[in-house]
Amino acid sequence: MRVRPFPLRTKLVLSFLIVIIIGGLLSLSFGSRLVKNTLIDQAQAKVKHDLAAAWMVFKEKLNDIKEIVRLTAESESVKEAIKENNKDTLLKYLCRLREENGLDVLTLTDHKGIVIARTRNPEVIGDDQSQDEIIKWVPQRGVLAYPQIVCREELIKEGKDLADQAYMEFIDTPKAAPRPENKETNGMMLKAASSVVDERDNHLGILYGGILLNRNYEIVDRVKEIVYKGEKYKGRDKGTATIFQHDLRISTNVPNENGERAIGTRVSKEVNNAVLVEGNPWIARAFVVNLWYITAYEPIKNIDNKIIGILYVGMLERPYIDTTNQVMLTFIIIASLCVVLLLVILYFSTTRITNPLQKMVVATQKISAGDLTHKVEVSSKDEIGYLADSFNQMTADLKAANEKLIEWGKTLEKKVEERTKELTEMQAHLIQSEKLASLGKLAAGIAHEINNPLGGILIYSHLLLEDLDKNSPHYENLKKIVKETSRCKDIVKGLLEFARPKEPEMTLIDINDIVERSLSIMERQALFQNIKIKKTFASDLPKIVADSAQLQQVFMNIILNAAEAMDGNGILTLSTSFNGSGTFIEVKFSDTGHGIKEEYKKRLFEPFFSTKEVGEGTGLGLAISYSIIQKHEGTIEVQSQLEKGSTFIVKLPLKKEME
Ligand SMILES: Nc1ncnc2c1ncn2[C@@H]1O[C@H](COP(=O)(O)OP(=O)(O)OP(=O)(O)O)[C@@H](O)[C@H]1O
Ligand SMILES: [Mg+2]
Repeated sequence: MRVRPFPLRTKLVLSFLIVIIIGGLLSLSFGSRLVKNTLIDQAQAKVKHDLAAAWMVFKEKLNDIKEIVRLTAESESVKEAIKENNKDTLLKYLCRLREENGLDVLTLTDHKGIVIARTRNPEVIGDDQSQDEIIKWVPQRGVLAYPQIVCREELIKEGKDLADQAYMEFIDTPKAAPRPENKETNGMMLKAASSVVDERDNHLGILYGGILLNRNYEIVDRVKEIVYKGEKYKGRDKGTATIFQHDLRISTNVPNENGERAIGTRVSKEVNNAVLVEGNPWIARAFVVNLWYITAYEPIKNIDNKIIGILYVGMLERPYIDTTNQVMLTFIIIASLCVVLLLVILYFSTTRITNPLQKMVVATQKISAGDLTHKVEVSSKDEIGYLADSFNQMTADLKAANEKLIEWGKTLEKKVEERTKELTEMQAHLIQSEKLASLGKLAAGIAHEINNPLGGILIYSHLLLEDLDKNSPHYENLKKIVKETSRCKDIVKGLLEFARPKEPEMTLIDINDIVERSLSIMERQALFQNIKIKKTFASDLPKIVADSAQLQQVFMNIILNAAEAMDGNGILTLSTSFNGSGTFIEVKFSDTGHGIKEEYKKRLFEPFFSTKEVGEGTGLGLAISYSIIQKHEGTIEVQSQLEKGSTFIVKLPLKKEME
């Protein structure tokens, strides 16, 4: 079988594979994006909430400071000490309170804003704080608490160590916006201030306190602890929080490369623009120090609503990316398994289709090569099965039609053969008849002309013979003349008989009788003495209409020929019968003589055809018989085998009525 470059199975498998691969790739890319987006969106929403929690911690701390400052300002001890101008007591009292409450700064001014007691740095007093952005509002607005940028000079006043704590050199940070400075000397403080008033509402002074946020990790660590519960991913904190002073990390738990807190690093440029420049929150992924985080940033504002920094919380993006990848990997494995399974199923199902088709191709080839017995063996109960059944049915029909055709061809051939034989026979008969007719005319003419002179010769030679003495030397010669002349007369008579046969005198006769009579006449001759005669006559032979004398002449001719062929020694079988359908009577004469040569068979019925010595036979016997039987609308057939014998069959139509 010729294999095409792309067999059906390859085509099917390829088209399925293309669909699966395209579908797989599309769902993989959409799926991964969907999973990633869903996970990251959820994380982002969580971070947004975390930022709110961070604000709570941040504000709680601010509130704590506010409460401490308020309660301290309201304490009678402070009021009395101010009134009594008891500075030592006041300082001691405030120092204790600052330490107890963990404040970095707790300072008291008089009612004009001049510092009278500075707990962290008691030596430095007398400076004017009345223009401080928070303190200046206290007389009107009471207790206030805000984040605030405190410049280095002020920090030094509060304590040199605080100024040092705030001092920070910038660390180069990838993606940060460039800045002309390279260090920060100011600090960011959570600061609260409250008026100190006596019972008669006299303004005694202002108490302010606060904590410096730079390098103070209490808030960010608390946020990390509350919100993220110290969760770690591959050794790193999953959640982080940071307080920025402008764009600078002053308090953070985001680690740098060495795993230390990344203070001194700065926020990325895009977050800087969004939060510090435009004042919007940033809730998206961001590059934090050296890694990508899912983040939330919001500006920290001072009492004048100016942006002074940023509060940030963020979660490592890596765990979510890894989860996405893991989900996608699982998906790919499942999809690959499905593809393999599908290919196996496809292989078997295409085999179920292509195998019967291949069988059918082989079958068509066999059928076209002429083998109509070939059958397609397909047992499936589907369309292919139906196709195979129809195919087999078609082959069977084709075979039947072919057989009919062959049969018909044979019948036709036989018919043509029969017809040709009939035609040849008819033609032979015609030729024979024509020949006989023309010969008859010629013979009749000659016979007629010589009959009369011959008659004269015979009469006169007889008269002469009667008159002549027997001892005369001419007597024997004259006798020979008479004998030969009468032979001539016989020949002429035969010729005339043949050429102008008498019309048969038809009567109803019994053929068995005629045969019997012919035989009894012949039997007496010496030639028949050593011939054994067998007779099988049909007893119920119907009578027919015929000329008995003429038929007797025919039968005698045939019987004589047979005896001559056997040279007077052999078996002569005579039989009569009539055929089943009853259309003719058959008379058979079989001898055991020398038989007839093939080339003579055609000429037997010609006048003057004889194999006998000249003078022995005229060769008119069968010619006359033929013309008689023809007149009776019958036939004479000859069958012969050399040295074995011959059979002459005379068939006569079964006419029972006279015409
Ligand atoms: N039964 C037979 N067996 C063999 N040859 C035969 C037989 N009958 C006829 N013939 C052949 O057919 C020839 C023609 O026969 P047909 O009777 O016409 O003439 P004939 O017998 O030769 O002469 P005639 O009958 O005039 O004496 C014969 O010479 C003989 O050769
Ligand atoms: Mg003869």
